[in-house]
Amino acid sequence: MQVPTFNLVFKMITALIFMCYLMAGPRCCVSCQKTSCLVQDRRADCSHLSLKEVPPNLPSNLISLDMSHNRLLAVRPMSLAPYPGLQHLNISYNSIIKLDGGLCQTLPLLQTLNIQHNQVLSLKYEDLIHCTNLTQLTLASNKLRLQGEPFSALQSLKFLDVSKNKLQSAKLGSQPQLPNLVNLNLGLNDITTLKKDDFSFLNHSSFLEVLNLSSVSLKTLEHGCFKLISNLRTLIMDGSNIGTSVIVNLCSELSGTAINALSIRNTKLVSLTNTTFLGLKETNLTILDLSHNGMGTIGKGSFQWLPKLETLNLMDNNIKHLTKDTFQGLKSLKKLKLTKAVVKSHTSSTPIIDDFSFQPLSALESLMLNRTAAREITEHTFTGLTSLKELDMSWSSYTSLRNITNKTFASLAGSPLRTLNLTGTDITQINPGSFSSLGNLTILYLDSNFIRQTLSGREFEGLGQIQEIYMSLNFQKINLSSTSFGHLPNLRVLTLGKSLIATALNLDQSPFSPLSNLTILDLSNNNIANIRENTFKGLVNLKVLKLQHNNLARLWKSANLGGPVLFLKEVLNLKTLLMDSNGLDEVPEEALRGLKDLRQLSLANNLLNNLKDSIFDDLESLQALYLQRNMITNVRPEVFKTPLSNLTLLIMDKNPFDCTCESILWFVTWLNNTKVTKVPDLREQYLCNTPLHYFNRTIMDFEVLSCKDMTPFQALYIVSSTAIIMLIVSALLVRFHGWRIQFYWNIVINRTLGFSDATVKEGRGYEYDAYVIHAEKDSSWVERRMVPLENKNCKFCLEDRDSIPGMSQLESIVNNIRNSRKILFVVTESLLRDPWCRRFTAHQALHQVIEASRDSVVLVFLQDIHDYRLFRTLFLRRGMLRSCCVLHWPVHKERVPAFHQKLLIALGMTNRLQD
Ligand SMILES: *[C@@H]1O[C@H](CO)[C@@H](O)[C@H](O)[C@H]1NC(C)=O
Ligand SMILES: *[C@@H]1O[C@H](CO)[C@@H](O)[C@H](O)[C@H]1NC(C)=O
Ligand SMILES: *[C@@H]1O[C@H](CO)[C@@H](O)[C@H](O)[C@H]1NC(C)=O
Ligand SMILES: *[C@@H]1O[C@H](CO)[C@@H](O)[C@H](O)[C@H]1NC(C)=O
Ligand SMILES: *[C@@H]1O[C@H](CO)[C@@H](O)[C@H](O)[C@H]1NC(C)=O
Ligand SMILES: *[C@@H]1O[C@H](CO)[C@@H](O)[C@H](O)[C@H]1NC(C)=O
Ligand SMILES: *[C@@H]1O[C@H](CO)[C@@H](O)[C@H](O)[C@H]1NC(C)=O
Repeated sequence: MQVPTFNLVFKMITALIFMCYLMAGPRCCVSCQKTSCLVQDRRADCSHLSLKEVPPNLPSNLISLDMSHNRLLAVRPMSLAPYPGLQHLNISYNSIIKLDGGLCQTLPLLQTLNIQHNQVLSLKYEDLIHCTNLTQLTLASNKLRLQGEPFSALQSLKFLDVSKNKLQSAKLGSQPQLPNLVNLNLGLNDITTLKKDDFSFLNHSSFLEVLNLSSVSLKTLEHGCFKLISNLRTLIMDGSNIGTSVIVNLCSELSGTAINALSIRNTKLVSLTNTTFLGLKETNLTILDLSHNGMGTIGKGSFQWLPKLETLNLMDNNIKHLTKDTFQGLKSLKKLKLTKAVVKSHTSSTPIIDDFSFQPLSALESLMLNRTAAREITEHTFTGLTSLKELDMSWSSYTSLRNITNKTFASLAGSPLRTLNLTGTDITQINPGSFSSLGNLTILYLDSNFIRQTLSGREFEGLGQIQEIYMSLNFQKINLSSTSFGHLPNLRVLTLGKSLIATALNLDQSPFSPLSNLTILDLSNNNIANIRENTFKGLVNLKVLKLQHNNLARLWKSANLGGPVLFLKEVLNLKTLLMDSNGLDEVPEEALRGLKDLRQLSLANNLLNNLKDSIFDDLESLQALYLQRNMITNVRPEVFKTPLSNLTLLIMDKNPFDCTCESILWFVTWLNNTKVTKVPDLREQYLCNTPLHYFNRTIMDFEVLSCKDMTPFQALYIVSSTAIIMLIVSALLVRFHGWRIQFYWNIVINRTLGFSDATVKEGRGYEYDAYVIHAEKDSSWVERRMVPLENKNCKFCLEDRDSIPGMSQLESIVNNIRNSRKILFVVTESLLRDPWCRRFTAHQALHQVIEASRDSVVLVFLQDIHDYRLFRTLFLRRGMLRSCCVLHWPVHKERVPAFHQKLLIALGMTNRLQD
């Protein structure tokens, strides 16, 4: 019973350790020391653990085990027995002295074995006898003493690295072996001589392609040393300290081989003559790398032997003079890299590139002249480059580039140039027609220069095919005019970041209007404060608009003179809009209207606070939203429901969130439920600012339930308080406006039940049809327009005319009103101002109306009076009356009869008139 218990305990401890590792593992990379192996995807990383043995308790299905940087002295096959499926074993950087022949037997599937940087001394056939499945063996940095034919069992090996072993011979065996070898690294060994039969062991290696002899100080090459490996395609001799004569020798030994690429970097090959590469005449060399050689002179005709060469790398040399003979014979050359090859140093004068220097290179497609310096570019510098597609002169120094004219690139007129890189070439001015000889150019880089001019458009004349112009980082000295881009109908990309003066876009006619194919426009970092509503008009294909780091806040303020400037309404196909760091504190309701395709919106680093409802409602396709570092306190569904619905990335950190139910409840609920949206740093950077008890805590701490609990109480509170307020309002209304309520009530009853004035009239005889109330000033109008309407059936009561003699004015009015069927107001400004009418007549008339419960007021407007004023002075509203009882004195004379007709209808007398 003892043993199982112990077993159980052991298993539990193991499981515990494993779990601890799982929990601590991923976080445990730099800060704390790794204490056990990391296992992931059947790969175990046991490096840097000071182990003396292979750990026995890893998962048995491992395919890869990294035991590098430990303290292994040997690898016992038994210790690897638990992992028979291993395909990759790394035991580099240990202290292994001897390889055990049983290793490959225990691991039959092993493909790569890395024993780099150990102490392996002797290596014999038995040590690798079972490694027939091995494809990659790295034995670099050991102390190999080969005995017999140690590699002859490696039937599948493709890659063998025995570099840095102090080997004195390249001969790794005497019988042909390694039939599948592709790549052999013999670099950094002490080989001084390549003997004729050194490579006899590779005689059957028909797949051999790459031989690396880097940093091998060869002194002699016996004639025929490469004969046995004449299928070799690539020879790397970088860093070998060999003299020019050895290189000449090397080249003649390569004669007749299949050599395709030769790398002679960093070998102090300081000059080339017309015989250096003579030996390569009988090869098909296509790639030659001569970089980092400090080469000063290239003799006339040095490359004449390389008519098949396609790529020549001369980077990082010190060439002083290119002449028309330098590249003579390179008639297949497609790519020439002269980066940092023609340079000016403190001690030497400016190099010279002669006219017609590139003329032999009729097949050249790409010329890298970046980071070079030369005296001039003349009208013939590039003559003859009839296939050139790409010219890179970035970060170069040529005086002719400071002030580009139509002569500067005239020599490229015969080239089908597509890309011209003039980044960082100190350009200050571009004159009309400068690029006119480059009719095929599609991409032009002018970034990081000092261009200071108003672009008239003639600078880009002739660039009919151009699709992309990059002009960022020009120190904000470029001004635009409405014709700046008039010659560029196919332009797709235009960048002007940190290049424009602040007022460059304050133009009546937009410089961009001809660019109907433009898809990307970068105007960032320009301090632009003025954009017109039509600035982007015509850019129907614009997809990306970059406006960050400008000064556009005023344009979107509701207080802006003439209202907010809705400059986005012409570019409704936008997919990306960047407007960070613009000082924005408002987004107008209509600013983002119609942007249904927008995928990415950035408004970060502004001062946005209370966002208006529905400003984002059209952003149905939004995938990434950036609103970090604003003043946003609340995230309400009215604003954010639509934009957050399809989002994959939300960045909204560093806002002063208000953690109350109204402000944040919806957002926190959304964050808790969202599955597709990534919100980085949610717990660390989304902090509550208010209220006090949540201050500086993450918004994810906000207690959602506290809002839910309140809901019934809140409802009760709302219902009860509403009831009380309604009660108070009703009481007050009844107390102060009871009569008015009664009045409206009666009107409503009359209208619905259809009591007409006529019936009322029949119930009680009236002396007058209407009592006319008007201001003193309007009496002449009444005389001229009303009095003539009177006849035996229609009689008006005019106070001046019909006041009852002997009665006080007051009594007379009261009497007359009582005797009139209708009360007619002639409404003018004067009436409203007339204190008499206002304070007495009108009031009296109203009382009369209310008492008699008659719908009997007729208003005749001679002027347009606002309802509000009407109510303030006469206590009447148009809405209180039937529409037929509100009349307007017409402006047009011909409408006067119609007015009369309407008046009679209002007075309820049409019937009588008709019969
Ligand atoms: C080589 O690998 C195959 C499976 O890919 C295996 O069947 C064979 O036994 C291995 N050979 C040796 C010598 O281990
Ligand atoms: C190489 O240059 C020398 C003079 O520097 C000249 O005499 C000789 O003819 C040239 N050889 C070839 C093959 O161009
Ligand atoms: C070079 O290529 C041609 C045809 O492509 C071939 O006939 C010739 O044998 C090659 N030369 C060498 C040395 O491989
Ligand atoms: C030179 O230009 C090429 C491509 O145009 C670029 O890849 C390379 O980095 C440049 N080199 C330097 C030193 O600027
Ligand atoms: C550039 O050249 C033009 C004409 O060739 C000349 O008018 C202009 O002043 C020059 N500009 C500078 C900055 O040298
Ligand atoms: C270059 O511009 C000058 C005027 O600035 C003009 O006289 C000349 O004809 C132009 N040359 C070419 C090749 O367009
Ligand atoms: C243009 O030159 C710059 C600077 O060397 C480089 O970063 C950029 O990649 C170049 N562009 C092309 C298309 O070669």
